[in-house]
Amino acid sequence: MCGIVGYVGHRDCADVLMNGLSKLEYRGYDSAGIAVFENGEITVAKTKGRLADLENKMKEIGKPHGHAGIGHTRWATHGEPSDVNSHPHSGERVTIVHNGIIENYKKLKEFLIGQGRVFKSATDTEVVAQMLDYYYDGNPVEAIVKTMHELEGSFALGIVFQDFTDTIFAIRKESPLIVGVGENESFIASDVPAILKYTRNYYLLEPNEIAVLSPYCTKIYDLHYKKIDKELKTADWDMESAEKGGYEHYMLKEIHEQPTAIKTTITPRIVNGLPSLEECGITLDEMKNFNQIFVVACGTAMHAGIVGKYVIEKLAKVPVIVDIASEFRYRDPIVTKDDLVIIISQSGETADSLAAMRLAKSLGAKTLAIVNVKGSSIAREADMLIYTHAGPEIAVASTKAYMVQIAVMYLFAFKLAYAKGMIDKEECKRLTELLQQTPNLIETILEDKTYEQYVAASLVTADSLLYIGRGLDYALSMEGSLKLKEISYIHSESYAAGELKHGTISLISEGTPVIAVATQSKLIEKTVSNIKEVKARGAKVTMVCRESFGDDSDIADYCIKVPDIDDILMPMLAVVPLQLVAYYASVLRGNDVDKPRNLAKSVTVE
Ligand code: G6P
Repeated sequence: MCGIVGYVGHRDCADVLMNGLSKLEYRGYDSAGIAVFENGEITVAKTKGRLADLENKMKEIGKPHGHAGIGHTRWATHGEPSDVNSHPHSGERVTIVHNGIIENYKKLKEFLIGQGRVFKSATDTEVVAQMLDYYYDGNPVEAIVKTMHELEGSFALGIVFQDFTDTIFAIRKESPLIVGVGENESFIASDVPAILKYTRNYYLLEPNEIAVLSPYCTKIYDLHYKKIDKELKTADWDMESAEKGGYEHYMLKEIHEQPTAIKTTITPRIVNGLPSLEECGITLDEMKNFNQIFVVACGTAMHAGIVGKYVIEKLAKVPVIVDIASEFRYRDPIVTKDDLVIIISQSGETADSLAAMRLAKSLGAKTLAIVNVKGSSIAREADMLIYTHAGPEIAVASTKAYMVQIAVMYLFAFKLAYAKGMIDKEECKRLTELLQQTPNLIETILEDKTYEQYVAASLVTADSLLYIGRGLDYALSMEGSLKLKEISYIHSESYAAGELKHGTISLISEGTPVIAVATQSKLIEKTVSNIKEVKARGAKVTMVCRESFGDDSDIADYCIKVPDIDDILMPMLAVVPLQLVAYYASVLRGNDVDKPRNLAKSVTVE
């Protein structure tokens, strides 16, 4: 959580920092701040609120001008969002920005107070600034190493020392950090899009590596002050794909990018009409012999895992347990060396998912990561890896990343079912071919979005609503519900349609909106009965069903029809109107669609 940037070079530093932060606001936007060397002095400008608030503040107080500095956009953990808790934080001669959590900050703070140090903020970060200051004796790297040995928790730090006016320092443990290299300029950033305007070349900083950046040279050391030679990477994401490209919001742009993202993700993994996952290092023999499969993830990625469970169990007949990562890691899961643990993550940095994966490895299981961000921690540590190729996803509410996660789950399920002899070659080819048709079908859904706007308008004044479905429709309704609540702030719950009558149906009264996902032909009659049960109690029902459904006039108040495809692949299509309804509900309520309150895209704290 939180985004950090740093710059040293020939440009106006404040501009570079602000530009970089604008690409990292998805990581948190409770406050923003920068520290720039101006005439040899560290000048800090920071404020509660978003980058736009910081811009405004700097119009009043003046923008610091200089050529070296650090910046931060915050998702608050320790200490409420306020001016004083905003980063950067300073000791006497040191100023820092921090992403992560210092778990032992209380103990360290007591020690430092005992040394006569005075604290201004309620943050864990200020403890690090003061600790660096405490150890600083003219040698910055030495102070950093000594401080590192004191800190417990996760962190990426950007650091400037008063005595080194053209140098910035950085170090990471757990939280991500890259070091960008341009011509006579260097950068640090929590994520690649923050540097793309200036350079595509970067180093991935590993845990416990210290970067020392000056305009003409970037050096990386280990904790023993030994210089490390690292491979310079080149980003394959361009600026264009990280910008809005004419759409009003990133979320809408990303919804529209789904057909391309699916093609880019699945096409290289289909050979002679069959799924081919050899690249991830999983052998057919291994595949056949897993006892059971766990899918562990958070949020939307976990919902992709639930779709995967239905599909794998149905086709390959292997038991699948889906776990929320934060539960998995503390519930003593019964995982053995004969199991496969699949971790799904867009960012590849979600702290709970990463810890869950480490736990699975320590229990002897094989781990397979399905990750979007290249070189992220989960990608690097997993035994086997499948990258999704969604490109950068900026909107906090995930859409295209979910789409490609489920696309990969399909490929995996088809492959596994075929490897186990549960489906024959022809059936495997047929399913794979259907998967390849989904991008075009999604294009047709996206051609006309007026009905989704109409449905969204019908529920914007609701206090609460229900999503219902059965089987894969239930799996999908969970994602529909999460999407709506996270960006519209309307309370919503998803429920297995058949379970409603065991309690939840009492929430239905005159006018309660219900969104019923009813795409599964084998279950359609049962779901329609459940729709009738809620209609009879006053619910206003929107049904999402197949084009071939026929006359819906006496069943639902609104009906969103999506093209027909095999039952098993319906989630790929039906999720699109659910995303659009959530999007328009958020727009109509005047919310900040791409940056919903209290949320962050990459959750690198527990
Ligand atoms: C946050 C985001 C969600 C995302 C979840 C897991 O809560 O707001 O959109 O699904 O983290 O993130 P990951 O990067 O692991 O997929």
